[in-house]
Amino acid sequence: MDWNFLPIFPHSASNFAPQVDSLYAYLVLVSAFFSILIAILIVTFAIKFRRKSETEIPAPVDEHSTGGMILEITWSVIPLLLSLVMFGWGAIIFFDESKPPSDAMEIWVTGKQWMWKVQHLEGTREINELHVPVNRNIRLTLTSEDVIHDFYVPAFRTKTDVVPGRYTTEWFRPTKVGQYHLFCAEYCGTKHSGMVGTIYVMDPAEYDAWLTSGTNVGSMAQKGEALFQQLGCATCHTSDGKGRCPNLAGVWGTKVELRGGSAALVDASYVRESIVNPLAKIVNGYDPIMPTFQGLVTEDQIQQLIEYVRSIGPKQPGPPPAIAKPGETPAKLTPVLGQPQK
Ligand code: CUA
Repeated sequence: MDWNFLPIFPHSASNFAPQVDSLYAYLVLVSAFFSILIAILIVTFAIKFRRKSETEIPAPVDEHSTGGMILEITWSVIPLLLSLVMFGWGAIIFFDESKPPSDAMEIWVTGKQWMWKVQHLEGTREINELHVPVNRNIRLTLTSEDVIHDFYVPAFRTKTDVVPGRYTTEWFRPTKVGQYHLFCAEYCGTKHSGMVGTIYVMDPAEYDAWLTSGTNVGSMAQKGEALFQQLGCATCHTSDGKGRCPNLAGVWGTKVELRGGSAALVDASYVRESIVNPLAKIVNGYDPIMPTFQGLVTEDQIQQLIEYVRSIGPKQPGPPPAIAKPGETPAKLTPVLGQPQK
C-alpha cells in the first residue's frame, strides 16, 4: 500500500517503500490506539474512583480473589501477540533487504570524508550522484576509504553502513522516475552534514544514453586488467598456471583450497584481502611470497582489479556487464593509468 497520502512519509520510490511504510503505519496505529486508550482510562478512573469525602476509607482488596487472573493474562498475551507481529513483519522485510537478487545490476560505491564516489561496471564514474534505471534490481557494493559512513536513501527506505576494510551491500528496485536525496547517516566528522548527493532514477533508454555519454575510458574490468599488468601482478599470476602464484582465470566464484586444509570462496572480499593482506590466506601449493599492496592501490583501483578477476572467471548468471571476455584484449587501455585516481 502506498502511504504517500499521509504527509509524514517521504517519497515512495522503491520496492521496499510500501512494505516499510505499511509496517510503520501498523506501529503508529498500535501505539496511537494504546496511548489513547490508556489516557482515556486514566482520566475516567481518576474521576470515577476519586476520594469523595475527607473521611472516606476505600474498601480493602480481597486477598483471596482470583478475578484479576483473567485480566492479567489478557493484558499480557494481547500485547505479546501485537509485538510478535512487529518482530515477524520487521524480520521479513529485513531479510528481503539483506538478500540481493542474483540478476541485480552491480554498482560500486566508495565513501570518503566527505563525498560519495560511484563506479559503474561500464567504466562511468560519478561523485555525489548515482544514476540508475527504473524497475531494475540494483546492488550496491559499498566500502569506505577512512571512517564509517552510511548510505541512506529515504525515498527507497534503505540504509547501509559503509565500513572501511570491508564490503557491505545494499539493494533496491527503483519504481519511480525522479530525483531523490542521498544522505550520509553516520556521523563521520566536520562535514558529515554536507555528505549528501542525488539519486537519479531514469527511463532505461535515457539511462543507456547517459551511460554512453561523457568521456568513458574503458570498463572497470579493462581498467583492472591494465592495472594488473602495470602493477606486475601478471608476472607471478601467469595465465598458463606455471607461475609462482595461482592463475586467476576461472577462479571467481569457486572455492580454493588453502594451506592447512580450509577453503575460501573467491568473491570480492577475498580478492580485496588478497591484495591488501596477501599472507592472510595462502592457496595450497604456493608460497607466501606476495607483498602487500596496501597503500599502493586506492579502493577504486581494488574494485577495478576485482572486476578484472570476475571478468576472467567462469560465466556468471545474470546480465553480462560490458567487460572484457577471457582472453580478449581491451581495444584501448586508459592513458591515465598509474596516476592516483580521484
Ligand atoms: Cu559520511 Cu557522515
